[in-house]
Amino acid sequence: MEEIIKIENLSFNYPDGRQALTGINLTIYQGETVALIGPNGAGKSTLLLHLNGILHSNGVVKVSGRSVNNKNLRWVRSKVGLIFQNPDDQLFSPTVFEDVAFGPINMGYPEAKVRQCVARALDWAGMTDYEQRSPHHLSFGEKKRIAIATVLSMMPEILVIDEPTSNLDPRSKWSLISLLKRLPMTKIIASHDLDLVQALCQRAIILDHGEVVADGATSHILADIPLLRAHGLAPDGAT
Ligand SMILES: Nc1ncnc2c1ncn2[C@@H]1O[C@H](COP(=O)(O)OP(=O)(O)O)[C@@H](O)[C@H]1O
Ligand SMILES: [Mg+2]
Repeated sequence: MEEIIKIENLSFNYPDGRQALTGINLTIYQGETVALIGPNGAGKSTLLLHLNGILHSNGVVKVSGRSVNNKNLRWVRSKVGLIFQNPDDQLFSPTVFEDVAFGPINMGYPEAKVRQCVARALDWAGMTDYEQRSPHHLSFGEKKRIAIATVLSMMPEILVIDEPTSNLDPRSKWSLISLLKRLPMTKIIASHDLDLVQALCQRAIILDHGEVVADGATSHILADIPLLRAHGLAPDGAT
Protein backbone atom coordinates (compact mmCIF):
# COMPACT_ATOMS: atom_id res chain seq x y z
CA MET A 1 0.00 0.00 0.00
CA GLU A 2 1.16 3.49 -0.81
CA GLU A 3 2.10 5.76 2.09
CA ILE A 4 0.14 9.01 1.89
CA ILE A 5 0.99 10.58 5.25
CA LYS A 6 4.12 9.97 7.25
CA ILE A 7 4.75 11.50 10.66
CA GLU A 8 8.13 11.05 12.30
CA ASN A 9 9.07 12.02 15.81
CA LEU A 10 6.56 14.85 16.04
CA SER A 11 6.43 16.73 19.32
CA PHE A 12 4.65 20.01 19.88
CA ASN A 13 4.48 22.56 22.66
CA TYR A 14 1.98 25.42 22.66
CA PRO A 15 3.50 28.86 23.24
CA ASP A 16 2.45 28.76 26.90
CA GLY A 17 4.74 25.73 27.28
CA ARG A 18 2.06 23.03 27.39
CA GLN A 19 3.28 19.89 25.67
CA ALA A 20 0.42 18.66 23.47
CA LEU A 21 2.24 15.99 21.39
CA THR A 22 5.21 13.78 22.27
CA GLY A 23 7.20 11.65 19.81
CA ILE A 24 4.38 10.80 17.40
CA ASN A 25 5.24 8.30 14.64
CA LEU A 26 2.47 7.31 12.24
CA THR A 27 2.01 6.17 8.68
CA ILE A 28 -1.33 6.47 6.91
CA TYR A 29 -1.84 4.59 3.66
CA GLN A 30 -3.77 5.69 0.60
CA GLY A 31 -7.46 4.79 0.77
CA GLU A 32 -7.57 4.14 4.51
CA THR A 33 -10.24 5.55 6.81
CA VAL A 34 -8.49 5.93 10.14
CA ALA A 35 -9.98 6.96 13.47
CA LEU A 36 -7.95 9.04 15.86
CA ILE A 37 -9.55 8.49 19.22
CA GLY A 38 -8.72 9.70 22.68
CA PRO A 39 -10.22 11.65 25.55
CA ASN A 40 -10.59 15.44 25.61
CA GLY A 41 -7.20 17.08 25.70
CA ALA A 42 -5.40 14.02 24.26
CA GLY A 43 -3.90 16.07 21.41
CA LYS A 44 -6.18 14.98 18.54
CA SER A 45 -6.92 18.47 17.21
CA THR A 46 -3.30 19.52 17.66
CA LEU A 47 -2.17 16.56 15.56
CA LEU A 48 -4.73 17.26 12.82
CA LEU A 49 -3.61 20.90 12.61
CA HIS A 50 -0.12 19.66 11.65
CA LEU A 51 -1.43 17.73 8.66
CA ASN A 52 -2.14 20.81 6.57
CA GLY A 53 0.52 23.05 8.05
CA ILE A 54 -1.57 25.24 10.38
CA LEU A 55 0.83 24.20 13.16
CA HIS A 56 4.51 23.36 12.72
CA SER A 57 7.13 21.82 14.95
CA ASN A 58 10.44 20.02 14.82
CA GLY A 59 9.30 16.61 13.71
CA VAL A 60 8.61 15.55 10.14
CA VAL A 61 5.16 15.53 8.53
CA LYS A 62 5.09 14.34 4.93
CA VAL A 63 2.19 14.24 2.49
CA SER A 64 2.76 11.99 -0.53
CA GLY A 65 6.49 12.09 0.27
CA ARG A 66 6.79 15.90 0.45
CA SER A 67 7.47 17.67 3.73
CA VAL A 68 4.78 20.01 4.99
CA ASN A 69 6.51 23.39 5.24
CA ASN A 70 5.88 27.02 4.37
CA LYS A 71 7.35 26.58 0.87
CA ASN A 72 4.73 24.09 -0.26
CA LEU A 73 1.79 25.10 1.92
CA ARG A 74 -0.41 25.84 -1.06
CA TRP A 75 0.26 22.43 -2.54
CA VAL A 76 -0.31 20.72 0.82
CA ARG A 77 -3.62 22.48 1.28
CA SER A 78 -4.81 21.39 -2.16
CA LYS A 79 -4.08 17.78 -1.15
CA VAL A 80 -5.24 17.82 2.47
CA GLY A 81 -8.69 19.19 3.28
CA LEU A 82 -9.20 19.98 6.97
CA ILE A 83 -12.72 20.18 8.37
CA PHE A 84 -12.80 21.93 11.74
CA GLN A 85 -14.89 20.70 14.64
CA ASN A 86 -16.89 23.93 14.71
CA PRO A 87 -18.40 24.79 11.30
CA ASP A 88 -18.49 28.47 12.28
CA ASP A 89 -14.68 28.41 11.97
CA GLN A 90 -15.06 27.42 8.31
CA LEU A 91 -17.99 29.55 7.09
CA PHE A 92 -17.58 33.28 6.63
CA SER A 93 -19.28 34.35 3.38
CA PRO A 94 -22.75 35.85 2.83
CA THR A 95 -23.86 32.84 0.74
CA VAL A 96 -23.20 29.13 0.70
CA PHE A 97 -22.10 29.43 -2.93
CA GLU A 98 -19.35 31.91 -2.03
CA ASP A 99 -18.10 29.78 0.85
CA VAL A 100 -17.95 26.62 -1.26
CA ALA A 101 -16.45 28.52 -4.23
CA PHE A 102 -13.74 30.14 -2.10
CA GLY A 103 -11.10 27.42 -2.59
CA PRO A 104 -11.61 26.96 -6.36
CA ILE A 105 -11.60 30.76 -6.92
CA ASN A 106 -8.43 31.00 -4.86
CA MET A 107 -6.86 28.36 -7.11
CA GLY A 108 -7.53 30.65 -10.07
CA TYR A 109 -10.00 28.32 -11.78
CA PRO A 110 -12.16 29.82 -14.54
CA GLU A 111 -15.78 30.54 -13.66
CA ALA A 112 -17.26 27.48 -15.38
CA LYS A 113 -14.90 25.19 -13.48
CA VAL A 114 -15.65 26.98 -10.20
CA ARG A 115 -19.38 26.37 -10.75
CA GLN A 116 -18.73 22.74 -11.57
CA CYS A 117 -16.63 22.24 -8.40
CA VAL A 118 -19.31 23.91 -6.25
CA ALA A 119 -22.14 21.85 -7.76
CA ARG A 120 -20.25 18.60 -7.28
CA ALA A 121 -19.30 19.43 -3.69
CA LEU A 122 -22.85 20.40 -2.74
CA ASP A 123 -24.17 17.27 -4.40
CA TRP A 124 -21.75 15.14 -2.39
CA ALA A 125 -22.78 16.93 0.78
CA GLY A 126 -26.48 16.50 -0.03
CA MET A 127 -26.94 20.30 -0.05
CA THR A 128 -27.66 21.06 -3.70
CA ASP A 129 -30.47 23.56 -3.11
CA TYR A 130 -28.57 25.68 -0.61
CA GLU A 131 -26.35 27.78 -2.92
CA GLN A 132 -28.04 31.09 -2.20
CA ARG A 133 -28.71 30.53 1.50
CA SER A 134 -26.76 32.35 4.19
CA PRO A 135 -24.46 29.87 5.99
CA HIS A 136 -25.14 31.68 9.25
CA HIS A 137 -28.86 30.99 9.11
CA LEU A 138 -28.59 27.22 8.80
CA SER A 139 -29.08 24.52 11.43
CA PHE A 140 -25.94 23.10 13.03
CA GLY A 141 -26.24 19.88 10.99
CA GLU A 142 -26.62 21.86 7.75
CA LYS A 143 -23.62 24.03 8.64
CA LYS A 144 -21.57 20.86 9.16
CA ARG A 145 -22.45 19.67 5.67
CA ILE A 146 -21.64 23.03 4.10
CA ALA A 147 -18.31 23.11 5.95
CA ILE A 148 -17.57 19.69 4.43
CA ALA A 149 -18.60 21.00 0.98
CA THR A 150 -16.15 23.94 1.29
CA VAL A 151 -13.39 21.35 1.52
CA LEU A 152 -14.79 18.90 -1.06
CA SER A 153 -14.90 21.66 -3.69
CA MET A 154 -11.09 21.45 -3.80
CA MET A 155 -11.17 17.68 -4.43
CA PRO A 156 -8.51 16.93 -1.80
CA GLU A 157 -6.97 13.46 -1.78
CA ILE A 158 -7.04 13.38 2.00
CA LEU A 159 -9.85 14.49 4.28
CA VAL A 160 -8.94 15.36 7.85
CA ILE A 161 -12.05 15.71 9.97
CA ASP A 162 -12.21 16.89 13.58
CA GLU A 163 -15.07 15.37 15.60
CA PRO A 164 -17.64 15.38 12.80
CA THR A 165 -20.55 14.13 14.90
CA SER A 166 -20.09 16.23 18.03
CA ASN A 167 -23.28 18.15 18.92
CA LEU A 168 -25.39 16.38 16.31
CA ASP A 169 -28.70 14.71 17.15
CA PRO A 170 -28.89 10.97 16.33
CA ARG A 171 -30.57 11.39 12.94
CA SER A 172 -28.13 14.09 11.78
CA LYS A 173 -25.25 12.02 13.12
CA TRP A 174 -26.17 8.88 11.18
CA SER A 175 -26.85 10.81 8.01
CA LEU A 176 -23.44 12.49 8.32
CA ILE A 177 -21.81 9.09 8.86
CA SER A 178 -23.39 7.79 5.63
CA LEU A 179 -22.30 10.94 3.79
CA LEU A 180 -18.70 10.38 4.93
CA LYS A 181 -18.92 6.72 4.01
CA ARG A 182 -19.70 7.63 0.40
CA LEU A 183 -16.60 9.85 0.03
CA PRO A 184 -13.79 7.97 -1.70
CA MET A 185 -10.80 9.91 -0.29
CA THR A 186 -8.35 8.79 2.38
CA LYS A 187 -9.88 9.93 5.69
CA ILE A 188 -8.46 10.68 9.10
CA ILE A 189 -11.23 11.30 11.59
CA ALA A 190 -10.73 12.48 15.16
CA SER A 191 -13.62 11.35 17.30
CA HIS A 192 -14.64 9.71 20.51
CA ASP A 193 -17.94 8.67 18.96
CA LEU A 194 -17.42 4.92 18.91
CA ASP A 195 -20.51 4.42 16.68
CA LEU A 196 -18.83 6.49 14.00
CA VAL A 197 -15.50 4.74 14.48
CA GLN A 198 -17.13 1.34 14.12
CA ALA A 199 -19.23 2.34 11.12
CA LEU A 200 -16.48 4.05 9.11
CA CYS A 201 -12.96 3.22 10.18
CA GLN A 202 -11.03 0.01 9.56
CA ARG A 203 -8.16 1.23 11.70
CA ALA A 204 -8.12 3.09 15.01
CA ILE A 205 -5.32 4.94 16.74
CA ILE A 206 -5.62 5.88 20.40
CA LEU A 207 -3.94 9.07 21.48
CA ASP A 208 -3.66 9.99 25.16
CA HIS A 209 -1.57 12.67 26.83
CA GLY A 210 -0.09 13.52 23.42
CA GLU A 211 1.20 10.00 22.72
CA VAL A 212 0.06 7.15 20.50
CA VAL A 213 -0.87 4.37 22.90
CA ALA A 214 -2.52 1.92 20.49
CA ASP A 215 -2.81 1.47 16.73
CA GLY A 216 -4.64 -1.42 15.12
CA ALA A 217 -7.74 -2.86 13.53
CA THR A 218 -10.86 -1.10 14.85
CA SER A 219 -12.44 -4.46 15.68
CA HIS A 220 -9.51 -5.28 18.00
CA ILE A 221 -9.24 -1.84 19.57
CA LEU A 222 -12.97 -1.51 20.31
CA ALA A 223 -13.13 -5.02 21.75
CA ASP A 224 -10.33 -4.27 24.23
CA ILE A 225 -12.43 -2.85 27.05
CA PRO A 226 -9.52 -2.55 29.53
CA LEU A 227 -7.58 -0.54 26.92
CA LEU A 228 -10.56 1.75 26.27
CA ARG A 229 -11.15 2.12 29.98
CA ALA A 230 -7.51 3.04 30.61
CA HIS A 231 -7.90 5.94 28.20
CA GLY A 232 -11.31 7.22 29.21
CA LEU A 233 -13.09 5.70 26.22
CA ALA A 234 -15.06 2.82 27.74
CA PRO A 235 -18.60 2.75 26.33
CA ASP A 236 -20.08 2.16 29.79
CA GLY A 237 -18.32 5.26 31.10
CA ALA A 238 -16.24 3.24 33.61
CA THR A 239 -12.75 4.59 34.18
N1 LIG B 1 -4.06 27.18 21.94
C1 LIG B 1 -3.64 26.43 22.95
N2 LIG B 1 -2.76 26.93 23.87
C2 LIG B 1 -2.30 26.15 24.89
N3 LIG B 1 -2.65 24.87 25.08
C3 LIG B 1 -3.51 24.34 24.20
C4 LIG B 1 -4.07 25.06 23.11
N4 LIG B 1 -4.89 24.26 22.41
C5 LIG B 1 -4.88 23.07 23.06
N5 LIG B 1 -4.04 23.10 24.13
C6 LIG B 1 -3.72 22.01 25.06
O1 LIG B 1 -3.10 20.96 24.30
C7 LIG B 1 -3.58 19.69 24.73
C8 LIG B 1 -4.18 18.97 23.54
O2 LIG B 1 -5.34 19.67 23.13
P1 LIG B 1 -6.19 19.25 21.86
O3 LIG B 1 -5.27 18.95 20.74
O4 LIG B 1 -7.22 20.30 21.66
O5 LIG B 1 -6.87 17.90 22.37
P2 LIG B 1 -8.14 17.10 21.82
O6 LIG B 1 -8.45 17.61 20.45
O7 LIG B 1 -7.73 15.66 21.84
O8 LIG B 1 -9.25 17.35 22.80
C9 LIG B 1 -4.55 19.97 25.87
O9 LIG B 1 -3.84 19.83 27.07
C10 LIG B 1 -4.97 21.40 25.67
O10 LIG B 1 -5.30 22.01 26.88
MG1 LIG C 1 -10.16 18.46 19.71
